[in-house]
Amino acid sequence: MNRTTAGGELTNSFKKYKLNMSNQSRIIGAGHYVPEKVVTNQDLEKLMNTTDEWIVERTGIHQRRYFEEGKDTTASMGTEAAKRAIQHAGIDKNEIELIVFATLSPDYYFPGCGVLLQKELELPHIAALDVRNQCSGFIYGLSVADQFIKTGMYKTVLVVGSETQSNFVEYSDRHRHIAVIFGDGAGAIVMQRSEEKNKGILSTHLYSDGSMAEELFCPHPGTRLKTRITHEMIDDGSLLAHMNGNLVFKHAVTRFEECITTALEKNNYTINELDLLIPHQANLRIADFITRKFKLPVEKVFNNIQKYGNTTAASIPIALSEAWAEGRVKENTLLCMAAFGSGFTWASALVRM
Ligand code: COA
Repeated sequence: MNRTTAGGELTNSFKKYKLNMSNQSRIIGAGHYVPEKVVTNQDLEKLMNTTDEWIVERTGIHQRRYFEEGKDTTASMGTEAAKRAIQHAGIDKNEIELIVFATLSPDYYFPGCGVLLQKELELPHIAALDVRNQCSGFIYGLSVADQFIKTGMYKTVLVVGSETQSNFVEYSDRHRHIAVIFGDGAGAIVMQRSEEKNKGILSTHLYSDGSMAEELFCPHPGTRLKTRITHEMIDDGSLLAHMNGNLVFKHAVTRFEECITTALEKNNYTINELDLLIPHQANLRIADFITRKFKLPVEKVFNNIQKYGNTTAASIPIALSEAWAEGRVKENTLLCMAAFGSGFTWASALVRM
């Protein structure tokens, strides 16, 4: 195939899409769902050698939500959050052309949750994509949606983050540094093409460092270490998630700062012009560190980890949905969302609402 032909074909194939570089994507609605069951630090004190004081001092968490067996799954919570986001956006669900579903705790090892949501929401046979970027999964998903909208391929995209993590942590002393941090829940947004200039997703910034993969990871079920699960692996805890908490903390504070700065600089904004920062709710100490580093007034940083714990891919959409409902996200709000987590991966998005 010569270059002229290839170029010609490319031009023709793009003709069917509305390729228009002035396309912007906007977040037009958000919703969230958290399970009813509230688990306090005092509840965890009964299950392992921990204290409310230790958990609050090291993480800022007072309580979290746990899924209800037989009722909640990662896909079903994502579906409920999606319904609320669709209602908030005021669209017909049949306008959605792509589902992007971010989770590290899917209903099944395969297939992913995107198709389960497609079924549960009774959507037509649209595209469904799962994103596996853990705590950064939602911003990675938002960025994927943004690219599809900007090329003109899709007009309306649903982005979901949902997690059922209480099912795979162990309530034991050996797993207490992880068990106390994580919670369950789901958040979703609807993104749609807009031709309004300087509005919507201004830029997204995605990063990874796989040399840190084993510093925060869940080795099984996987194929790298052993191909079959054995009784010994259950007994020795190797099926559980592993986290080098101190290292994660050190990298998180640096990477959060870098990707927030990049998002602002890329769009010629200063930190003082930012109206609201929604950091991934990893740990209140990490969020407080960033707040101090940027000298941001506390009211410009949204935190809800105190009541939900770290909900991984769900944390930012839950926070966005709550912030919007509380009137802290309005038309024209300059919003930065930033995340860091397992991979390591980290990401930011700057949005003019
Ligand atoms: N309750 C009571 N004590 C606990 C505990 C718990 N739930 N978990 C750990 N400890 C103990 C440790 O065993 C250790 O005891 P020792 O000194 O007798 O050995 C002590 O507390 C200090 O442990 P350490 O791991 O050094 O604490 P820390 O100050 O680093 O805090 C984290 C631990 C996990 C809270 C902290 O490292 C952190 O927040 N890291 C980032 C985690 C994160 O954000 N993960 C998600 C990424 S998206």
